[in-house]
Amino acid sequence: MKTLVVMNEKGGVGKTNIVAHAGWYFSERLRTLVIDLDAQRNLTTTLGAHLSPVESVNLFAEATRVPPVGSLTVAQSSRDLMGVEAADRTCIETFRDSIESMADDYDVCVIDTPPALNNRTFGALLSADAVLAPIGINDYSIQGVAELLRAIKGVSAHYQRAEPLFLGLLPSIYDRKSRRERELFESLAEQAGKLLFPGMVAKRDAYAKAASESEPVWNMKGSAARDAGNEIRGVFDHVAQQMELGA
Ligand SMILES: Nc1ncnc2c1ncn2[C@@H]1O[C@H](COP(=O)(O)OP(=O)(O)O)[C@@H](O)[C@H]1O
Ligand SMILES: [Mg+2]
Repeated sequence: MKTLVVMNEKGGVGKTNIVAHAGWYFSERLRTLVIDLDAQRNLTTTLGAHLSPVESVNLFAEATRVPPVGSLTVAQSSRDLMGVEAADRTCIETFRDSIESMADDYDVCVIDTPPALNNRTFGALLSADAVLAPIGINDYSIQGVAELLRAIKGVSAHYQRAEPLFLGLLPSIYDRKSRRERELFESLAEQAGKLLFPGMVAKRDAYAKAASESEPVWNMKGSAARDAGNEIRGVFDHVAQQMELGA
């Protein structure tokens, strides 16, 4: 099993939308586990047809497996997840042990993280083979990036493990029609250079519809949805290739 962590300590940058679509995309051909570590439960709601009775909070308490419920299995969020932040730091390693115990149960695991650098996010990072960082295009996105990269390096150094593959900063709600966003994107590309993911997810109405219907955007009708589907699938094609997730 290979583990992809989707993180950014900022909220509202498109993390959960990316993870939901990654779950649908990978489960077309791979045994896929999705873990919702955000107490907001948005991902759990969107992927409600695939829930395991095992809650993600259980993975921090003791080494716990999430038995597959189908080609897509979701370890759901709960309010108790907040309690993980008050728990002893050993819960970070316990979560890693839980992930390792499922090495043969799944081909890929995708983890959605809360918008904070906390025990849950560190547990995810300690388990990560690869990290994808959705970003918003605004004046602050660059400032947050240094902190994000420090957290990835810091966790690996602290636990003396190899760093996960950094897949890049992915503009995830990019408004192509806004001149301001296009300008900011260009300056971001100059500053962040090779840290940028080679692709993006544009801001499109089809995503709201997809979330409310609990269906991927590529199942929505119309040419706008088709464009959205092709675009986001292209992102995951690249992720799969980088993570060597063959069929
Ligand atoms: N590409 C997109 N186009 C339009 N709306 C989007 C897009 N990506 C996400 N959204 C919407 O923006 C809001 C924040 O996205 P979300 O994935 O929940 O971000 P995060 O998990 O980083 O907080 C949600 O209402 C979501 O439906
Ligand atoms: Mg989210």
